[in-house]
Amino acid sequence: MKKIYFPIVFSLILIFDKTAAVVICYHGTWSHYRSGNGNFPISLTPTDLCTHYIYAFAGLDASTNQVVSLDSWLDFNLNGFQNAIALKQSNKDLKVLLAVGGYSQGSARFSNMAAHQSTRATFIQSALTFVQTHGFDGLDLDWEYPARRDGQAQDKENFALLVKELYEVFNPLGLILTSAVSAVHVDVSYDVPTLSQYLDYINLMLYDFHGFWDTHAYHNAPLYSTSKLAGTSSAGFSVNASVHQWIEAGASPSKLALGIPLYGRTAILSSASNTSPGAPTTSQGAHAGPYTGTVGFWGYNEIVEQFQNGDWTLEWDDEQEVPYAYKGTTWLTYDNGRSIGQKVEFANDLGLGGIMVWSIETDDAYGVSDIRFPLLKAIQNALDTSRPNSSTTSSVSSTTSSTAPVTSETTSSSQKTSTTTAAETTTTTTTPTSTTTQGKPSSDSRRIKDANSCVTEGFFGSSVDCSIYFYCQSVDNGHVGYSFMCSQGLVYDTTFGICNYPALVDCSN
Ligand SMILES: *[C@@H]1O[C@H](CO)[C@@H](O)[C@H](O)[C@H]1NC(C)=O
Ligand SMILES: *[C@@H]1O[C@H](CO)[C@@H](O)[C@H](O)[C@H]1NC(C)=O
Repeated sequence: MKKIYFPIVFSLILIFDKTAAVVICYHGTWSHYRSGNGNFPISLTPTDLCTHYIYAFAGLDASTNQVVSLDSWLDFNLNGFQNAIALKQSNKDLKVLLAVGGYSQGSARFSNMAAHQSTRATFIQSALTFVQTHGFDGLDLDWEYPARRDGQAQDKENFALLVKELYEVFNPLGLILTSAVSAVHVDVSYDVPTLSQYLDYINLMLYDFHGFWDTHAYHNAPLYSTSKLAGTSSAGFSVNASVHQWIEAGASPSKLALGIPLYGRTAILSSASNTSPGAPTTSQGAHAGPYTGTVGFWGYNEIVEQFQNGDWTLEWDDEQEVPYAYKGTTWLTYDNGRSIGQKVEFANDLGLGGIMVWSIETDDAYGVSDIRFPLLKAIQNALDTSRPNSSTTSSVSSTTSSTAPVTSETTSSSQKTSTTTAAETTTTTTTPTSTTTQGKPSSDSRRIKDANSCVTEGFFGSSVDCSIYFYCQSVDNGHVGYSFMCSQGLVYDTTFGICNYPALVDCSN
């Protein structure tokens, strides 16, 4: 009997291992400043739906070649870094990474830094210090893009050197290294075999293939290419074509994370009577959404609100395996649970390392459409169907009473860095200078005793220790509380929902 049993158990383990896929969740942390259903503080992250959380973005200082905060108010005064690390309290396996760069940082500063061994060394040392000081598990490089935009041809080779040298410092310390990379012009920018060797994951940005800037209505992130574009320069603009290109160029499939956009793009059709993919457009985008504020771009959270306003015609493109929608002359290309399910299946079929999303704050976080985080849940469900049985124990049991103070290394560094980077602060909203003081905590309904005392969703201060606060999340059969601690010297202000100076908050009992 035992001889029969053993191989069965063994093969189950193998199956499980093979499909232990990652879900790499980027967070555009500036969504903290958005209002209403667009508001997405770090603590709202569904830690049971991500294996990696990536804090976007820190910057690269063009003159010093060092990693710097781009929003010291959010990163330090509002405890952004600290709250990101604290996400591990509700999922002990979660890896929390810091992204450096992003589209708006341009390419030139990375190009200059990577061009010389000495400046690469300066960057690597500063990245290591930054990551270790704040407690991150690793770094994500977001150079958009080597040898493109304002970069130079040698970037391809220099980026590979940078990644190798970073690996040699980070790997022995157990620190993770990933990079967001382009879906197109792969051979121009990337020494793929080297990147595949030294990066833990290559995050494929498989979106923005098309948008309002085109003259015709095509998809933002189609799974397959369309025959309509065969023979044109955008013939290979699809998830399938890009993934195959990366693999053919020498990437190990297990290192690739298939990027899925949690947003859509709009275009204005030339005629309301031609609404099919490929229809002529005016090269204009539809109005900006209330949360993301960008013409031609809607987060999925904005899309579901549009759909609730009615009058949209929803369609499915059988050739490219993605949905689209239109209303009058407004044309929308986006992803939904169905297209995401197919992309996850595609990733599984090719044995990819997993999925990446840009970005969690535009999922339907508040469940306007029905359930909360429907797109992240679609990813998890599609991954689960290929697993024997995933343990779906969410954060519930492990977090209800985790009041462990968040380390002191983050607090000391916050003092250090907030002064050096204050000039770079890009956002000055919600300054804690309005002075109305609170009623006493004992009579303040926004203060509760501990994380087990949650009865409604939202942020609450502690009635016991003013420096502690909680996020109470609704779950099926009640509420789950997550605990956080303000950085040293600050206390939780229930009026503004932030950590504030003690003089501005009434904490007396
Ligand atoms: C997917 O891409 C591969 C490689 O480019 C190609 O051979 C194949 O036909 C594509 N599949 C579809 C359905 O387009
Ligand atoms: C898998 O999980 C489901 C839901 O928790 C459970 O009902 C089912 O019995 C499990 N299957 C196995 C094989 O453990």
